[in-house]
Amino acid sequence: MWIRQMLAEDIKDIAYIEKECFKEPWSEKIIEEMYKNSYDFIEMAQESTKTIGYANIRILAPEAELMRLAVLKERRNEGTAQLLLNKILLICKCKGVSVVRLEVRRDNEPATALYKKFGFVQNGIRKDYYSHPTEDAILMEKILNN
Ligand SMILES: CC(C)(COP(=O)(O)OP(=O)(O)OC[C@H]1O[C@@H](n2cnc3c(N)ncnc32)[C@H](O)[C@@H]1OP(=O)(O)O)[C@@H](O)C(=O)NCCC(=O)NCCS
Repeated sequence: MWIRQMLAEDIKDIAYIEKECFKEPWSEKIIEEMYKNSYDFIEMAQESTKTIGYANIRILAPEAELMRLAVLKERRNEGTAQLLLNKILLICKCKGVSVVRLEVRRDNEPATALYKKFGFVQNGIRKDYYSHPTEDAILMEKILNN
C-alpha cells in the first residue's frame, strides 16, 4: 500500500469512500470542486488497483483544516489512516502551516483516539453542530513546529 496525490479519475472512488464512511457524504460535484481548487490537498491510500482511503487538508497558511480522513471499513486498523495523516502533516510543514485544526463527532472514538495519538488537543465544542443524528462537534488542534 502506498500514499499518492489525488488524480481527476479518483473522483468516483472518493465518492464511494464518502458514502461508506460518512453520515453526510460529499457528492462527486463537491469532490470535483475541491480537486480543482488550489487550497485543498488530497492524498489517496492505494493498493494495486484499489483505493482504500483518502484524506483532504485545506491549507490557507499559516492555518490548515483537516476536512476529511477515511478508510474503507474492511481495511481499518491496519495503520492506513496514520500513513495518510503523516503525509498530510508533511505537506502542512512544507507549506509553512503552524496550526492544523479539525472537527470530529463527539462519539467518534476511533478518530478522536487517532488525533490524540498524533498530538491534537481538544480546544472547544460546537453544540449540536452535526445532523443525522444531531451531535456535538469536538474541536481539536495541533501546533506544528516548523
Ligand atoms: C478514523 C479512521 C480514519 C481510522 O482509520 P484506520 O486506518 O482504521 O486507523 P489506523 O489503523 O491508522 O489506526 C491508528 C490509530 O487510530 C486509533 N484507532 C483506530 N481505530 C480505532 C478504534 N476502533 N478504537 C479506538 N481507537 C482507534 C488508534 O489510536 C490507532 O492507533 P493504535 O493502532 O496504535 O491503537 C477510520 O475509522 C474511518 O475511516 N472512520 C470513518 C470516517 C471518520 O470518522 N473519519 C474521521 C472524521 S473526523
